[in-house]
Amino acid sequence: MYVCICKGVTERALREAIYQGADRMRDLKACLGVTEQCGLCACHVKQVLDQTLEQKSQIQGFVPQSFVSQSTCMCPNTA
Ligand code: FES
Repeated sequence: MYVCICKGVTERALREAIYQGADRMRDLKACLGVTEQCGLCACHVKQVLDQTLEQKSQIQGFVPQSFVSQSTCMCPNTA
């Protein structure tokens, strides 16, 4: 399902980016371009982010990457 129509970003692409380390809204914006144009997707993107981080923490006792280092985005769509 598309979350960001302007950039053609699906919920699956968001989840993949989050599992690769994009754990903040700004990471998703930088990686995938979500919220850059009309911004109507922001609430849904945030919802997917929160849900996925929660799932991630339950699966692996996840510590957000932002707490570990100030690394660059690790998502596969980064040029
Ligand atoms: S729907 Fe995401 S920026 Fe327009």
